Amino acid sequence: MNKVAIITGAGSGLGQATAVQLAEKGVNIAVVDVSEKGGNETVEMVKKSGADAIFIKADVSKAEEVKNYVDKTVEHFGTIDYFFNNAGISGSGQFFLNTKVEEIDQIVGINLLGALYGVRYVS
Ligand SMILES: NC(=O)c1ccc[n+]([C@@H]2O[C@H](COP(=O)([O-])OP(=O)(O)OC[C@H]3O[C@@H](n4cnc5c(N)ncnc54)[C@H](O)[C@@H]3O)[C@@H](O)[C@H]2O)c1
Repeated sequence: MNKVAIITGAGSGLGQATAVQLAEKGVNIAVVDVSEKGGNETVEMVKKSGADAIFIKADVSKAEEVKNYVDKTVEHFGTIDYFFNNAGISGSGQFFLNTKVEEIDQIVGINLLGALYGVRYVS
C-alpha cells in the first residue's frame, strides 16, 4: 500500500522538489498550492515519477480551505502518512517600519496561521 503525503506550497521550489523525490519512492501526493499553474505542473511531474497525485487549490491562510485540503486528501487517498507544512512567503523584504499593515497581515496569515491551521486539521 502506497504512503500518502500532503505537501503545501508544492507548486514550486522546495515543495515541488520534495513531491518529486517522494514520488520516486512510491509516495502518493496531495499537491496543495494557491497557484493552479504550479500545482498542476507538480501533479504531472509526480505522475511521471510513477506515483499518484491530486491538486487541491487552497490558500493556507484560510482555515476553511485548510480543512478542505485535508478532507479532500482523505476522501481521495483514504489516509495521510506525511505532512510537509511548507507553504510560505518571504514578503517584500522592506525595513519593518516601512512595511504596509496589509503585508504584515499577509505574512502572518500564511507563515504563522497557515502552519497552525495545517497542524490543527491534519492531526
Ligand atoms: N528557499 C529558501 O532558501 C528558504 C529559506 C527559509 C525558509 N524558506 C521557506 O520554505 C518554504 C518554501 O520555500 P521556497 O523557496 O520553495 O518558496 P517558493 O516561493 O518557491 O514556494 C512557495 C510555494 O508556496 C505557495 N504559496 C504561497 N502562498 C500560499 C498560500 N497562501 N497558500 C498556499 N500556497 C501558497 C506558492 O504559490 C509557491 O508555490 C517557504 O515557507 C519559505 O518561506 C525557504
